[in-house]
Amino acid sequence: MAGIVVVGAQWGDEGKGKLIDVFAEKADMVVRYQGGANAGHTLVVNGQKTILHLVPSGILRPETTCVIAPGVVVDLFAIRDEIKKLKDSGLLQNPKQLMIADTATIILPYHKALDAAREAALDDSKIGTTGKGIGPAYEDRASRRAVLFGDIFDRESLKAKIELALREKNFMLENYYKTKGFKLEDIMADLEKVAEELAPYRTKDASLFISKNLKAGKRVLFEGAQGTMLDIMHGTYPFVTSSSTLSANACASAGIGPMNIQKVIGVFKAYATRVGGGPFPTELTDEVGQKIQADGHEFGSTTGRARRCGWLDLVALKYAIRVNGITNLAMMKLDVLTGHDRIGVCTAYKINGEIVTELPTSPYELAKVEPVIEWIPGWKEDLTKVKTLSDLPRPTTNYIDYLGSQLGTPIDVISVGPGREQTLWVKPLFNN
Ligand code: GDP
Ligand code: IMO
Ligand code: MG
Repeated sequence: MAGIVVVGAQWGDEGKGKLIDVFAEKADMVVRYQGGANAGHTLVVNGQKTILHLVPSGILRPETTCVIAPGVVVDLFAIRDEIKKLKDSGLLQNPKQLMIADTATIILPYHKALDAAREAALDDSKIGTTGKGIGPAYEDRASRRAVLFGDIFDRESLKAKIELALREKNFMLENYYKTKGFKLEDIMADLEKVAEELAPYRTKDASLFISKNLKAGKRVLFEGAQGTMLDIMHGTYPFVTSSSTLSANACASAGIGPMNIQKVIGVFKAYATRVGGGPFPTELTDEVGQKIQADGHEFGSTTGRARRCGWLDLVALKYAIRVNGITNLAMMKLDVLTGHDRIGVCTAYKINGEIVTELPTSPYELAKVEPVIEWIPGWKEDLTKVKTLSDLPRPTTNYIDYLGSQLGTPIDVISVGPGREQTLWVKPLFNN
């Protein structure tokens, strides 16, 4: 039992990438389990920033094997470019560091075109997708028309698959969305080239590889993308992504049993953010929200969009603890809250004059709730240079203790800056 799942406990961008990079020092393997290039995971090592979209966040640790599991939707060109950047800067030297499952779904140009066309066709109910083709690619997987990573290495059958897909996709794009379709020859030419470049990373049976390692007692981290509230089944549907972001999907995607999981670590920011459309009960549209956005550099690493900011929402966070079975928490970006006289925490919602403490399942109801805010005294000290827990100023430890008691789940890690070293440990990651 040496598997640990790291899951986003809010609306994404909680700092999963940083945390995985820190944890990977002690791990043998990092497995990315869902999503695609819609994710943007930022790592800062010795002041140098690396943004990863598909490559697992363990890649900066040469001893750690990174695996892209079957549940991921892989944009071949995006991952090719990511690999090239890592190689050029000397961060990826051995192809053995990265494995891509043959049975992962690939994203093709028509997926992105359909994603864009669909969003453009929506009026006031836009989801605000990243435009990376995620929804259409997962649709193809569910409707059994997906092209898989392993397929790109067999030219003839690949051609037949894409030809079949194009008949339908081009019809939709040209006749329904009145936009341009794609030519089989163009797609095939691009795929042929990229297949050659990605061949060294191909792995036939990712599930077998991960299982064998777990059996041998290796330490395996499962890296989630997006966050709980963006989950296709349990998020604020339809304002969600198209994959299951929850911890349980780490097992389903990798093809391992749940008993391999020792801990589920929920990552949350000391406040809350959301990119794109959909309900966000604690959103601050005033200068307090603007201060958090500026201090936290809350601009998307994939699309550059400004992230909506608000106070920490304990109703939503408790929900995330429940639906993921979170055993331990990591609190990120505590340093960003410096300079507020008081810090707000949402402890309940008011709906039609009634106080509720459970998340409503309807996003339309959630959009109407009024957050009940408790106020905690703020602090003025810069936290980014704090090296040990005992050096944290008293008001910050009061905030941490307050959250710990409200959440009933231990906060094991506190992050006070984007850098690897700006991490305070309450408890070690692995039990043994
Ligand atoms: P992810 O998608 O969950 O991996 O998160 P992102 O990388 O999209 O967004 C988190 C941002 O916050 C990145 O720019 C990180 O470098 C940064 N970050 C992570 N932890 C901290 C922290 O404790 N303090 C500050 N100030 N920034 C952090
Ligand atoms: P990481 O892994 C934050 C949001 C989009 C949009 C919705 C659907 O960096 O935390 P999609 O392109 O997935 O169909 O868009 O989901 N979204 C994210 N928000 N962080 C992410 O990833 C996200 N990936 C998708 O903004 O609202
Ligand atoms: Mg991100």
